[in-house]
Amino acid sequence: MIRKYISQNKDRFLAELFEWLRIPSVSADSSRKDDVRKAAEFLKEKFVDAGVDTVELCETKGHPIVFAEKIINPSLPTVLVYGHYDVQPADPVNLWNSPPFEPVLKDDKIYARGACDDKGQVYMHVKAFESMMKLGILPCNVKFMVEGEEEVGSGNLGIFVNENKSKLKADIILISDTSLISLEHPSITTGLRGLSYMEVEVTGPNRDLHSGVYGGAVANPINTLCSMIASLHDEKGRVTIPGFYDAVATLSQAERAAINKAPFDLDQYKAELGIEDIVGEDGFTTVERTGIRPTLDVNGIWGGYTGEGAKTVLPSKASAKISMRLVPNQVSDEITKLFTDHFLSIAPKHVKVKVIAHHGGEPAVTATDSLSYKAASKAFEEVFGKTPIPTRDGGSIPIVALFKKELGLDTVLMGFGFDTDAIHSPNEHYGVRNFTMGIETIIAFYKHFGAKEVSISK
Ligand code: BES
Ligand code: MN
Ligand code: MN
Repeated sequence: MIRKYISQNKDRFLAELFEWLRIPSVSADSSRKDDVRKAAEFLKEKFVDAGVDTVELCETKGHPIVFAEKIINPSLPTVLVYGHYDVQPADPVNLWNSPPFEPVLKDDKIYARGACDDKGQVYMHVKAFESMMKLGILPCNVKFMVEGEEEVGSGNLGIFVNENKSKLKADIILISDTSLISLEHPSITTGLRGLSYMEVEVTGPNRDLHSGVYGGAVANPINTLCSMIASLHDEKGRVTIPGFYDAVATLSQAERAAINKAPFDLDQYKAELGIEDIVGEDGFTTVERTGIRPTLDVNGIWGGYTGEGAKTVLPSKASAKISMRLVPNQVSDEITKLFTDHFLSIAPKHVKVKVIAHHGGEPAVTATDSLSYKAASKAFEEVFGKTPIPTRDGGSIPIVALFKKELGLDTVLMGFGFDTDAIHSPNEHYGVRNFTMGIETIIAFYKHFGAKEVSISK
């Protein structure tokens, strides 16, 4: 019955999603502000069509939050679905094989910015809800909170959550904004990394100089910045900031063995990325390096002349954006402080250094012995025919830790994207099977969670 409804309506589901993907809701780009709102309005309308009791655009200092709910019986449990309708900028646009905001179907995949992260995954929830309403099988209450600022750090969502605790009253948070190992090896994300995002600026002479006249005698801030950055890792691939690892939770051998049980093919990994070799912290596997270990990466670096041809210049300034991925029990503010103190301390006298902190967020680990995890696990078993493997994802959804802190709620991370879906990159895509199987799995989750009675046998 459920599968039939999904397959009969699949083309319409996709047509609607395509319409949504055509709206360039890039939260970081202030010139797209109206489009971001348009994407929120579109979603609001679709919630109405799907049968919610109420839906509203909750205004914030930034982009609006779409909040909808369907309360069938206040004494039944309530699922609070969270997601985001904003997307990353599409640049560099010239590397896309088709325009980022003109979705196309190719090899049974949807190509568009936001196809996977996170419009495609949010839309599974809208259509799962529609299906349950149409089939008369919604077993519990549901609330939806879909924000438009996730990709820029969810600055206003924290305030909204704090001010609307009773509105958000629920029993569990459900999020589809993470990865699946593969359709053959379903998985449930049980951990996310936190984040500290920094920007540094190194200033040398008071103006750009002729690199011949002054070169060799005056410090070049780009050279200095590069040495400073290079010193942030040692030869073992460890971050050299004093205290950086102090709070990192050490996992038991059994926990590490469990994490490494996830199927992983190193040759395929390298081939898919076009690299000959991998690098990382000594003593840890690739799955551990991205799942349970903290990192430091330069996200962007600039300064001097980058235009056409050559210009001989010794620049006055050089800058870089540097992010650190954090794991339990590191605290974003503490790591931000350790970075700042250290970076200033290694600055040579011949430059001035400025450190700016951008957004941050805490890591999160979710339970595997909860009723909701078991409901999710059973849902995957039903649809994929296999027990899902718990995995730790390397990405960040800072709001998960905040939900726990502010609302006391646990989260189930039921994501259906693949790591190879090119989110944040050119040619982002999302499998149509991921989309339809996702809808089915979400419906199965409601069934098991709503039944309040999850057998512990499997
Ligand atoms: N959906 C991603 C996070 C993600 C991706 C988690 C893949 C697990 C697997 C989310 O939209 C995102 O991109 N988050 C940002 C952090 C945010 C604070 C800007 C990130 O991880 O860089
Ligand atoms: Mn996302
Ligand atoms: Mn993202």
